[in-house]
Amino acid sequence: MAEKITQKVTPWEVKGKIDYDKLIKQFGLKPLQHLPETFQKNVLFRREIIFAHRDFKQIVEAVQKKKTFVMMTGLMPSGKFHFGHKLVADQIIFYQSLGAKVYIAVADIEAYNSRNPNMKELRETAIKEYLTNYVALGLKLKNCDFYFQSARSKNGKQANAYYSLANMLARHATFNEFKAIYGEISPGKMSSSLLQAADMLHPQLKEFEGKPIPIIVPVGSDQDPHLRLARDVSQRIKAFRFKQLSSTYHKFLPGLKSGKMSSSDPLSYIALTDTPEEAARKIKKYAFSGGQPTLEEHRKKGGNPEVDIPFQMLKYGLEPNDKKLKKIYDDYKSGKLLSGELKQIVIDKLTKFLKEHQQKRKKAEKLVDKFLN
Ligand code: TRP
Repeated sequence: MAEKITQKVTPWEVKGKIDYDKLIKQFGLKPLQHLPETFQKNVLFRREIIFAHRDFKQIVEAVQKKKTFVMMTGLMPSGKFHFGHKLVADQIIFYQSLGAKVYIAVADIEAYNSRNPNMKELRETAIKEYLTNYVALGLKLKNCDFYFQSARSKNGKQANAYYSLANMLARHATFNEFKAIYGEISPGKMSSSLLQAADMLHPQLKEFEGKPIPIIVPVGSDQDPHLRLARDVSQRIKAFRFKQLSSTYHKFLPGLKSGKMSSSDPLSYIALTDTPEEAARKIKKYAFSGGQPTLEEHRKKGGNPEVDIPFQMLKYGLEPNDKKLKKIYDDYKSGKLLSGELKQIVIDKLTKFLKEHQQKRKKAEKLVDKFLN
């Protein structure tokens, strides 16, 4: 039975079945369409998994005219790195391949204020789970500024500039604005929002890239309130002439059992460090199927790929070939392809991916070690 909860998408909570058209209207986003070839090559853009934006045009222009631009995003270190997190990693790596300077913030201060006060554990998770997987997926550590909110830089001038900005932004926001953007707000959340605004804006400071430049912030749609705040205050703080931030929004990868993917429930996701056997077991046992209850019915009525989690995993990138994906879609919908057969396709793809990825992780661990020391 489908759960009947009304849609709620905020940085602190995501629930209900998400209607992305409604979200576009509610948040005032622009749908992302008609992108040039360079972007269409990326499976997430092509399949409209990245579905909306703010001010993306300046990024398209920077790419086309080969001008300097920054890709900035942040991660909340919690639990295992899974296929939901991979969506962001794929985008970081894609922008790096287009020539972006990459900034990645580990939101350890935000995590401290909102969920986990163990700073040592946060640091370890950020490195072992996130950074190592990013590198194994193809992130180049050259041209990459990876930092912790709690330790911006060993360079004093840079560190001062970042923390000053986070604190100075406070002057340019009001309490009512916080309430309007976030609904509920606490001191911890307020300071996290301002620090995140500094994350997104500080590459433009003279201590960093030296001048106002386009910055793309790829995020899940739950992060838009932070962007609204950062965009608003950035244009009020006249001490700096910030170029307006650009952002894109991707859809959430549904959890294995349908519903939400959650770091705290290992049966809701496939981690990139799961063994191929574990992954296969999770797919067989837990992945929600859009097939019919009996073989006869399935042959007659066909399956529903839209709600079928194994199919969605192929769509979100496991099957990069559009023609092959369409054939699977058509065959499943017509009843020619059975749920078990579809699951097997996914298991085969996953097995290959996980084996190769885990091999690459070994080399990545060494590179990360060298990078951090
Ligand atoms: N708030 C983000 C999250 O919960 C993490 C984050 C911190 C972030 N700073 C950022 C995201 C800057 C994008 C840009 O995942």
